[in-house]
Amino acid sequence: MDLETAARDVRENAYAPYSGFKVGAALRGASGAIYTGCNVENIAYPEGTCAEAGAIAAMVAAGETQFTAALVIADSPAPVSPCGGCRQKLAEFGAAQTPVTMATTSGLQTQTSVGELLPGAFSEAHMSGQE
Ligand code: THU
Repeated sequence: MDLETAARDVRENAYAPYSGFKVGAALRGASGAIYTGCNVENIAYPEGTCAEAGAIAAMVAAGETQFTAALVIADSPAPVSPCGGCRQKLAEFGAAQTPVTMATTSGLQTQTSVGELLPGAFSEAHMSGQE
């Protein structure tokens, strides 16, 4: 299965009764396996989680900590852009050059990368030299 099909499929399961905005995300793990996630909202609004976070959790739960490609899809006028928190989460498990595809259900796509989404990301290098 390709990443777009996987993300489209999982998007159908999104729990988004408050925003009405369903999002699907799919990651290709370094092993080649695909991991998916959808947004899961909550009546206590800040407790909701993004599709990307769900896909990352699925990947890590399966024993992988690196992805080689990501795709995020929503029924939006322009390709959906990962939120700031998700950009940091993606940077934890993807390399700067790792491709990220932002897509709409109607077929628009924009290609970017983990590094382009979060230039100057806080990383382990910033913590070196600490006692
Ligand atoms: N959302 C995601 O799941 N991923 C994104 O990249 C953007 C936003 C979700 C969070 C919330 O459930 C809904 O979309 C509206 O913000």
